[in-house]
Amino acid sequence: MLTLGIETSCDETSAALTEGRKVLSNVVSSSVHLHKKYGGVVPEIASRFHVEYIVEVVKKALAAAGKRLEDVELISVTNGPGLVGALLIGVSFAKSLSYSLGVPLIGVNHIVAHIYSSFLSDGPAPEFPFVGLVVSGGHTSLFLCKDIDRYTLLGQTQDDAIGEAYDKVSKLLGLGYPGGPAIEKAARMASVRDAKLFPRSMLGKDSFDFSFSGVKTAVLYFVQKLKEQDALAPEAVNEIAYSFQEAILDVLVKKAFRASSARKVKSIVIGGGVVANSRLRELFTARAGASVGVKVFFPEFVYSMDNAAMVAFLGEALYKKGYKSDLSLCAEPNLKIQEEVC
Ligand code: KG4
Ligand code: ZN
Repeated sequence: MLTLGIETSCDETSAALTEGRKVLSNVVSSSVHLHKKYGGVVPEIASRFHVEYIVEVVKKALAAAGKRLEDVELISVTNGPGLVGALLIGVSFAKSLSYSLGVPLIGVNHIVAHIYSSFLSDGPAPEFPFVGLVVSGGHTSLFLCKDIDRYTLLGQTQDDAIGEAYDKVSKLLGLGYPGGPAIEKAARMASVRDAKLFPRSMLGKDSFDFSFSGVKTAVLYFVQKLKEQDALAPEAVNEIAYSFQEAILDVLVKKAFRASSARKVKSIVIGGGVVANSRLRELFTARAGASVGVKVFFPEFVYSMDNAAMVAFLGEALYKKGYKSDLSLCAEPNLKIQEEVC
């Protein structure tokens, strides 16, 4: 079923055409360069960028797939969570298109869509049930995913999201925005590699929740001390970046594998901007190698960041299960996942 996906929840304007797991095109236009000097996403700038580029991005996605608007059979759009002004552009655009073309519309949850970014490749797809780990700028959550529409939340961050922690620590270290790629690069350049400078917050041995504010504060005090001694040299910055990254990724790996063992599932599927991190992939792959029978799925790099292909894939799968939206679909900045308790 030819599905047009539309994603405008934050600073990426994206449109994609998919048929099941096959991605015919995925066009992403990012306004990240406009936010850099402010050290984070400015909602008004992001929204205006979506208004300016959405038509062009959709046209490019159609052209790249060799399709016309009339060929589209379903429109799937992110309707939350995200920045309300940014979401509104995608939702209004998708509703207008659905009405004028007379094709069905479905609104999807951005966080759930991240989990399905690993399905957009030729290899074997993860099988339900699996542990879904979302690591993005706004969320850090562990789910038990039983089906495309059946989730149990196992745990989530109690304070900062992991991407947010990367961004804040990067700012502290003077490495700029977005922080994830900057910290990853600095960590790779560290010649002194002490993984134990900062604490790991496990929140008890049975908890699947996360907390990243403690490690962030520990970095802040460490940096303040070095600054007082005039010792925050580039090598010290690299060493801090390395140790911070090891501390937070260690917690992720332990909790995700703990969840797979507690729930007796054999696959862990990771999605969200932070899964672009190559150290994260290295650590999960190594741990999977040591845990007989547990497989870890990562998206291709292009589908790690916000993109419309994952939105189209999820929308089509839900539509085929009988779900659909109508023109009353709203942008919902705090959209929650429908959970099952178990
Ligand atoms: O999923 P995403 O594109 O947007 C949200 O839905 O939030 O995630 C953005 C987050 C940012 O915090 C960014 O610093 C982080 O993903 N990120 C990374 C890397 N690339 C992006 N974090 C760690 N390592 C990376 N290579
Ligand atoms: Zn995202």
